[in-house]
Amino acid sequence: MKVVNTIEEVRKEISSQSCSLGLVPTMGYLHEGHLNLVRRARNENEKVVVSIFVNPTQFGTGEDLGSYPSDIESDLKLLENEGTDLVFNPSSDVMYPDGFDTWTEVGGLSRRLEGEFRPGHFRGVATVVLKLINIAQPDRAYFGQKDAQQLMVIKKLVLDLNLNVEIVAVPIAREVDGLARSSRNIYLTSDERGIATTLFKSLNLAKDLYENGVRDAEKIKQEISRLIESQGVSAIDYVSIADTETLEELDFIDRTALVSLAVTIGKARLIDNVILHDELAGLT
Ligand code: PAJ
Repeated sequence: MKVVNTIEEVRKEISSQSCSLGLVPTMGYLHEGHLNLVRRARNENEKVVVSIFVNPTQFGTGEDLGSYPSDIESDLKLLENEGTDLVFNPSSDVMYPDGFDTWTEVGGLSRRLEGEFRPGHFRGVATVVLKLINIAQPDRAYFGQKDAQQLMVIKKLVLDLNLNVEIVAVPIAREVDGLARSSRNIYLTSDERGIATTLFKSLNLAKDLYENGVRDAEKIKQEISRLIESQGVSAIDYVSIADTETLEELDFIDRTALVSLAVTIGKARLIDNVILHDELAGLT
């Protein structure tokens, strides 16, 4: 496994290969969720590139850029074990040299949900992902369903700007008690860690209600909010049931729907989601 820090080195490494390439963009502090993406990329491509870059432009003021966890030694060991070929670990100056001033903005989708609470977040994500795709020129790029809106924004970016890359969605990796794996789970104290399972429980509640025929989105959202609040979590950013193409809120669930939520527990802002579709209810 080779580890490089500059764009020139990535270009040199990939230009000497004429084989299929999978790219896994990450911000490091890797866990099983990230490794699942790497494994999938490993299975589907001859070469795998993983980027580790805590992208400053996707963090808002007052967010956790300064304290975002990192452990590059451990990350490199894990990636080596997964058979990664190349790790791209650039500095901010490499990605955003002095004078950098070109941005990518995906319209409508970026302004909903996370976009409402983290203005500018998806502009930073879309810009860095476009840059990483241009740098590595992969055949496929891998993203987790954990960040469902991010995945949609990236798919739209690829569609609208005619990028020659296949975006592969990988299911959410969870802890045994259902908590979605996240680098930010490290911020949770042990009490908060217990409370955090309420996210998964409330998504299961949504699924149960749906399977039992409830289609009134407001009713499901109320039940979810009640369950979360009963655990002593007051900082709910949103509980949403939305169309999976447009992210428009649904009143009545008459199509495939994304149930997503964002809550803050202690210092951790956590997000999670589940997709409701007819197969769940055995209707198709
Ligand atoms: P990061 O949070 O490090 O996540 C990197 C990738 O791993 C993303 O595609 C994310 O959806 C996926 N991932 C994280 N936790 C997961 C889980 N529990 N199950 C499945 N997939 C999971 O997302 C980012 O970094 C950044 O925004 C990035 C795309 C790298 C751009 O800077």
